[in-house]
Amino acid sequence: MHDFEYRDGELQCDGVPLSRIGKEVGTPCYIYSYSTLIRHFRAFDGAFRGIPHIVAFAMKANSNLAILRLMAREGSGADIVSGGELFRALKAGVPPSKMVFAGVGKSREEIRAALEADILMFNVESSPELQLLSEVAAEMGRRARVALRINPDIDPKTHPYISTGLKKSKFGIAADRALEEFKLASSLKHVEVVGVHKHIGSQLTEITPFVDALKRILSLVELLKAQGTDIRYINIGGGLGITYADERPPHPKDLAEAISPMVRDLKCVLIMEPGRVIVGNAGILMTKVLYTKDTDAKRFVIVDAAMNDLIRPSLYGAFHDIRPVREMPRSATRTVDVVGPVCESGDFLAKDRAMPDMANGELLAVMSAGAYGFVMSSNYNSRPRIPEVLVKDGQFHVIRARESYDDLIRGERIPDFLA
Ligand code: LLP
Repeated sequence: MHDFEYRDGELQCDGVPLSRIGKEVGTPCYIYSYSTLIRHFRAFDGAFRGIPHIVAFAMKANSNLAILRLMAREGSGADIVSGGELFRALKAGVPPSKMVFAGVGKSREEIRAALEADILMFNVESSPELQLLSEVAAEMGRRARVALRINPDIDPKTHPYISTGLKKSKFGIAADRALEEFKLASSLKHVEVVGVHKHIGSQLTEITPFVDALKRILSLVELLKAQGTDIRYINIGGGLGITYADERPPHPKDLAEAISPMVRDLKCVLIMEPGRVIVGNAGILMTKVLYTKDTDAKRFVIVDAAMNDLIRPSLYGAFHDIRPVREMPRSATRTVDVVGPVCESGDFLAKDRAMPDMANGELLAVMSAGAYGFVMSSNYNSRPRIPEVLVKDGQFHVIRARESYDDLIRGERIPDFLA
């Protein structure tokens, strides 16, 4: 569900016709709906009302300061994966007491900064990381709270690039080595073991993998409690999927109903790290048709957004619905490729898609682009990164300006020997 709807013959967001944003901000641009963001966060958070929990928004999905501030005001924490994300989350006012830090390659500097900020805990992914964490905490005279990330070896049945909880993946500690690692962690004076973490993948459209993975984690928690390790937090990660085309992912309520009874009596705080399910359908990428090009093989609709702006179709073959902003009677549909100006054949937003004829200059909305959209964009082909706009109650706010050509070369130097 989202708040991008046709009204008076035009797609609108929270009462603002998208063409107005196009006129004032230009294209391409990302547009987010405030009301959708809020509704999604509350639906998720509210579903778990019955049990002590923390929603730590996975900010890798969308890390704009305004979005983070909005989440923080709703009571969200943050799942961070880098020093840069820590910096952003602090700037946006996310309380460190609700921040968890995941990732297989945390550097000494990142660990230090997170300890300095006194985040809730580190989700540790290996024993060398545990050793380094202990070393840095000792230098600082601190104790680092940790959860160990367990790889439960469960198939999340999603795209291989976004599966993370299988034996062959780089993430987490194998379930059969977990007890050993917990023992090591408990022996380290500057480490305090407080939790168990798992995250098995993204864009999951079934409940079963969540439940199966949690079962594995819970049997481990029992063993740990029996050996005297006090587990106070169980972190089930993120991964709940959304509708891009015709997927029917479970509602957060379904997830809560399946999971709450499993953890209710454990006297633990449940941590969750949703990303996509909160922001995915709350955002679109708006682009303009530049040309229509017919070849013997195909028709190409060439638009001003490209793979550098939204890489999901190129990288994962991901489907994003594309709708014309103006609603009007259209001629019969045709099968086309919607492509950008980047010099790669892999640069497409849609392939072999049935679309009505579109005029040059028309605006298109690439739907479900609020998660892993702008954050994965780049300057490839020296294309300035595009603006982000937040719409609330009939008004829109540019929450990230379009980059300029000067932004493109910021930090670059021509050394003296080339002067
Ligand atoms: N927690 C951890 C430890 C994660 O690695 C992730 C996502 C999440 C939470 C949030 O997952 P979500 O609720 O958003 O599914 N770029 C890919 C998605 C990569 C996800 C990486 N990890 C895409 O565009 O589909």
